[in-house]
Amino acid sequence: MNVHVSPSANEAARDAALAVARWLVRTDRPTTFGLAGGSTPRKTYWLLRQLDINWNGVTCWLPDERYVPTDHADSNAAMARAELTDHVGAELLVPDTSLASATESAAAYQDELLALLGDSDPGVVMLGMGADGHTASLFPETEALTVEEPGYVANFVPELDTWRLTATTPLLQRSGLLLFLITGTAKADMVQRVIGDAEPYPIREVADGAEGEVVWILDEAAAAYL
Ligand code: 6PG
Repeated sequence: MNVHVSPSANEAARDAALAVARWLVRTDRPTTFGLAGGSTPRKTYWLLRQLDINWNGVTCWLPDERYVPTDHADSNAAMARAELTDHVGAELLVPDTSLASATESAAAYQDELLALLGDSDPGVVMLGMGADGHTASLFPETEALTVEEPGYVANFVPELDTWRLTATTPLLQRSGLLLFLITGTAKADMVQRVIGDAEPYPIREVADGAEGEVVWILDEAAAAYL
């Protein structure tokens, strides 16, 4: 398993940015970049803005999204635009969360996303991990984990009492490079469970069946129990 431990969260963010950049510059053909949500990736997106990357052939997309308006504080689309794509002029494929239900939003996005991914070289997907072992919005014991096809689905998350939209495990597994960026002491116990003990939490399931390269980038705090 390709696990890289950086001394600090900032250095982990830098190492993730360099790994993404190396992937994006390796081809002149159209490719894709799946942007993790949450707070961890923000520093990486800021660093990517400083690098000399040709974003013309890169289409960004969202491995998961909250079922909220795109101007909502919880919107991953808003964060991706604010932290990266508006700055570098990269295209961002965004779910239409104005549709009447999370199911309709996910289904519409799935059609667009499968068309995009089918026409591009295998792309890089950056993902985070929650302390419960979820990645994207594939939370433990939720319905989306049962979907055996590459796709994008609505997923009710009881612990949050909310609907999320998420790429399915098989879709994430089709990535050319899966990059997990995990930092902070709050994640250390789960990091030990999924990496040290290979416990089958959603993030480990995604990693184990991945068709491409998988890289875990941790800081020392998150790797404390390994
Ligand atoms: C989201 C993310 C989610 C995130 C983890 C870690 O939409 O929130 O896709 O999977 O990566 O919850 O979040 P933090 O980076 O904020 O710890």
